[in-house]
Amino acid sequence: MTKVVCPGSFDPVTNGHLDIIERASRLFDEVVVAVLVNESKKGLFTIDERLELLDRATSDLPNVSTASFNGLLVDFCTDNGISAIVKGLRAVTDFDYELQMAQMNGSLTEVDTLFIPTTPEYSFLASSLVKEVAKHGGDVSRLVPDFVLTDLKAKYA
Ligand code: PNS
Repeated sequence: MTKVVCPGSFDPVTNGHLDIIERASRLFDEVVVAVLVNESKKGLFTIDERLELLDRATSDLPNVSTASFNGLLVDFCTDNGISAIVKGLRAVTDFDYELQMAQMNGSLTEVDTLFIPTTPEYSFLASSLVKEVAKHGGDVSRLVPDFVLTDLKAKYA
């Protein structure tokens, strides 16, 4: 049985994240979506809020679960019997950093990293940009699930 992780900040989850999570769920037996708890970076959404939004967004995917982690991703993988990290690649600009992380993680353990190319319609999509546009009243309705949109509007009301 192949268990993989889709790690990230997910502040908040976007349709771009969901594209990768859904495709990973078709390829692997079990997918854990893991939210990094980063003490030094205060996000817009709390970790619990991010997990709640992710749970709602993936409720139709029975082999997907959510969790949070702190410390090293490879330690989370080892502790949870996860054999691979799945990441989306939006553009070549992602590649340098993602390759570096994949190689560092590979040097620490046997956990491998697999890249899935993002669907082109989401290649520009990032949670940080969604927040910036939403903050100034721009339309992000095509970029996030409805309930994320509602919560974003509430945060910036
Ligand atoms: O959504 P993000 O912020 O791009 O996700 C980055 C994330 C969480 C995947 C990455 O920062 C990470 O794995 N952090 C955990 C700490 C760690 O293992 N660092 C070593 C990476 S080589």
